[in-house]
Amino acid sequence: MDRPHRESASVRVAGSLPGPRAQRWIAAFEAGSAPSTYVYPFVWDVSEWAEGPFCGDPDGNIFLDCCTHVASAPLGYNHPRILTECGVPFDPIKTADHDFYLAVGPDPARPRPLRLPAEAGRFRTAGHLQQKLFDLSRGFGFDTAFFVNSGAEAVENAVKIAMHHCWQRLCQRWPAALLEELCRQLHLPWHPYLTEARTNYPLFGIAMSGAFHGRTLGALSLTNSRTVQREGYAAIPWVRFAPYNDVAFDFDKLLDQRDLAAIVEAGEAARVIYEQQKAPRDLLAYVIAEPLQGEGGYIIGETAFLRRLADFAHRHEALYISDEVQTGLGRSGRFWAIEHHGVAADIVAAAKGLRVGAVLSKRQHFPSQPGAISSTWAGGPIATAVAVSTLEVIEDEQLMGNAEILGQEARSALQAVAERHAAMTNVRGLGLMLAFDLPGAAERAAMVQACFQRGLLLLGCGSRGVRLLPPLNLRPRELRLAVTLLEDALRDVERG
Ligand SMILES: Cc1ncc(COP(=O)(O)O)c(C=O)c1O
Repeated sequence: MDRPHRESASVRVAGSLPGPRAQRWIAAFEAGSAPSTYVYPFVWDVSEWAEGPFCGDPDGNIFLDCCTHVASAPLGYNHPRILTECGVPFDPIKTADHDFYLAVGPDPARPRPLRLPAEAGRFRTAGHLQQKLFDLSRGFGFDTAFFVNSGAEAVENAVKIAMHHCWQRLCQRWPAALLEELCRQLHLPWHPYLTEARTNYPLFGIAMSGAFHGRTLGALSLTNSRTVQREGYAAIPWVRFAPYNDVAFDFDKLLDQRDLAAIVEAGEAARVIYEQQKAPRDLLAYVIAEPLQGEGGYIIGETAFLRRLADFAHRHEALYISDEVQTGLGRSGRFWAIEHHGVAADIVAAAKGLRVGAVLSKRQHFPSQPGAISSTWAGGPIATAVAVSTLEVIEDEQLMGNAEILGQEARSALQAVAERHAAMTNVRGLGLMLAFDLPGAAERAAMVQACFQRGLLLLGCGSRGVRLLPPLNLRPRELRLAVTLLEDALRDVERG
């Protein structure tokens, strides 16, 4: 069969999916893997032709990928600069491994050897990445970065940094005896061995209804989008939730406005925190929000809401954390989506499209003692080198502009489909983060499957949303192809 080209490629699906070879790869993997998200049996064969949004599976099928490993492949597949600059045999080198599957040739028992690019060029390090991120985050004043491995770890560390910052402020402001008395009133156990350490201190955060921040225990404590993600796990108790996008919500209701000494000296800490479920103002360390809620249903943050939220945080000396794990890297048409709202975050948490987790902020917000935050792999040299090349391609190929222009075209095209099909409503999006709703969860599941069987990869979000996250370098022809496949699939779903 002729090798396809991006200029003329189309989807190609023979028979029902997964095909026989894909099934073998899935079976070999699932024999020892824990159950996880696995959306549908899509198997990317890294040894097959793939370019832009097109990729192949071990049975010779070709897919149009409009979810790009949940935004982890902003340049689509095998961008030549990533392959040559970083010397990797394929890209994305980080895939959504708990959502889809990987193959290396037709047979799991004999993985096909991969060829490395002929000349590997400008391999850059984490130091280059820091500088690049500071340059692209102009206006935020960031001068310090901390790299980790995932979005959840980025959130987790953003929260730790904010907590530590708040703790230092408390220690400067209040005597140790007052801080210890607070713990006594709250019946908080002291660590039995580290008697000098103030562990389990009640430092508060405010997160949003419908938020998704990841699945490690700290990030999970801030997550509020789906029961299955939280049920059966212990959570950090010092989190209060506010309704996302409720412009009239009075955030101050979540706080006791007296200073810490007044609350503790009145012996009221337990009543305020446990009974009234409020946070003493001095103990508020951070406020965290996604500028556009992703897993929660592609809910675009209102400018008025996000500005009030950031003002509220700053009025109480808390740090405002923008979770840009899904929205970052130009996907919304701006480098960080929060820039659409004119809100300067104190901390940005990033991952996915960056191919490495990152926390960005100012030096004065980070703990200064060595060891207060760390991680063995902290991203790793290949991940950080790929990140630098990715950022350079986004700039050089003006992909933020492309995301904005093609995003508008996509919304118009989807709106036109919605006008022909009553089942499709609420077309929305920012840049190349696009979504629409179907009547319910069953229709949504049927739609995602019908698209898959036609060779179009997309994902659900929220309770009945369908989202599209194509590569930032999507072309108009590819967009038209995606919309045609989507409408065909919608007809299947409507026919039942
Ligand atoms: C907004 C947001 N934050 C955090 C995460 C967690 O990222 P990871 O899956 O890399 O831990 C996600 C993942 O979907 C996300 O969308």
